[in-house]
Amino acid sequence: MEALIIQGGVPLHGKVRVGGAKNSVLPLMAAALLTTEPCTLENVPHLRDVNTMVKLLMALGARVEWDREKGTITIQAQEIPHPEAPYDLVKTMRASVLVLGPLVARCQRAKVSLPGGCAIGVRPIDLHLKAMEKLGARIDLEEGYVVATCRQLLGTTIYFDKVTVTGTENIMMAAALARGETVLENCAKEPEVQELARVLRNMGVRIEGEGTDTICIQGTPSLRGYHHTVMPDRIEAATLVIAGAITGGEINVTHVVPRHLEAVTRKLQEAEMDLAIGPDTIHVKAPQRPRAVDINTLPYPGFPTDVQAQFMALMTLARGTSVITENIFENRFLHAAELKRMGADIKVNGNRAVVKGVESLKGAPLMATDLRASASLVLAALAARGESRVSRIYHLDRGYERLDEKLRALGARIERTKEEWP
Ligand code: EPZ
Repeated sequence: MEALIIQGGVPLHGKVRVGGAKNSVLPLMAAALLTTEPCTLENVPHLRDVNTMVKLLMALGARVEWDREKGTITIQAQEIPHPEAPYDLVKTMRASVLVLGPLVARCQRAKVSLPGGCAIGVRPIDLHLKAMEKLGARIDLEEGYVVATCRQLLGTTIYFDKVTVTGTENIMMAAALARGETVLENCAKEPEVQELARVLRNMGVRIEGEGTDTICIQGTPSLRGYHHTVMPDRIEAATLVIAGAITGGEINVTHVVPRHLEAVTRKLQEAEMDLAIGPDTIHVKAPQRPRAVDINTLPYPGFPTDVQAQFMALMTLARGTSVITENIFENRFLHAAELKRMGADIKVNGNRAVVKGVESLKGAPLMATDLRASASLVLAALAARGESRVSRIYHLDRGYERLDEKLRALGARIERTKEEWP
């Protein structure tokens, strides 16, 4: 296992480039299962979750070439002899469920391990399964696996009872090879969903409405390969901007789509951080401690749940009291207990955390529990007085490419070290 040792209290300065979006790459890789032709992605971040998806596609029988230096991946699923996503891979990455829709559409059969609960909540996939049934698949649960079969998926109208990002993506991919028209209602509008729609369109699918509540898809019997450059990761961008703000520094975050981050940048401006927003850059300067502001996580374009933990780290040092309400996942405050160990004043009550800003945090040994919680602990440690050790950073490496190196280049005193676990 590895840990990060951080000497806090250094204001960050300089320029930092954001990598490709994890939550876009994963569905785009799964979409390669819809065609026999090669599909190429550029600007692919070097992440543990991407590695897991590579392993999964290879286990299904696809040929995958990943040039980590260039950041390109080429996938060709000429045949899919084993349409089965094994438990060992699914348990390490819930997004593995994204192969369900493409596999059933292409092979008329799929066996995908049911993901268990995870650190941030129960996270069922009932809405994916209900929608697959509506498209005509038969769903059976066998020994912890979802077994889905069909003769041919048939277009229909599907209303998602709750907005679900990977659920919308899974069913968009399934509908791409279904017979006839599928209308998806109450869809997720996240930029990652929109990017998947653009790629499906390049593959030959007639699809419209992405970015709105309703997406219409005309199924096509066979699809072309694609060549696509992955958009910047909006969550990494937000994390870096907050790193500048929390350390009282001044940094320029480049290769960003600021439009994707409006809910976050508005809150940072409300917190009296100086932001200069260019066409693909966000320059942040923290003239003083932030002012306390309240946040409410919501589906896009609302404030992203994936930035809640990082924003809470910032609010621990705010002038005043902020109320943070988590509306997407029922257990996404695990970072609060760790932040309290650094001297933060946080009271959690159900899905609401009341954060009373303190003047400073103190370094401490910390335990990462999930991806974004890990990022919030790193941010708090960068701002704290003294040394912190953030253990179990494999969570961080799932979704951030070389975060420690990027922060070090901005002046942070941060080192990666091996650590023994009993
Ligand atoms: C996606 O997860 C992201 N993952 C998550 O990123 C992100 O936090 C989340 O969307 C919300 O924005 C990927 O894109 C790979 P949901 P997803 O289905 O699709 C409930 C990160 O840190 N629900 O939109 O799994 C669910 O429990 C992460 O990068 C059902 O009840 O999330 C949650 O309360 C982690 N039944 C809500 O809907 C279902 O069948 C939204 O979840 C599906 C979801």
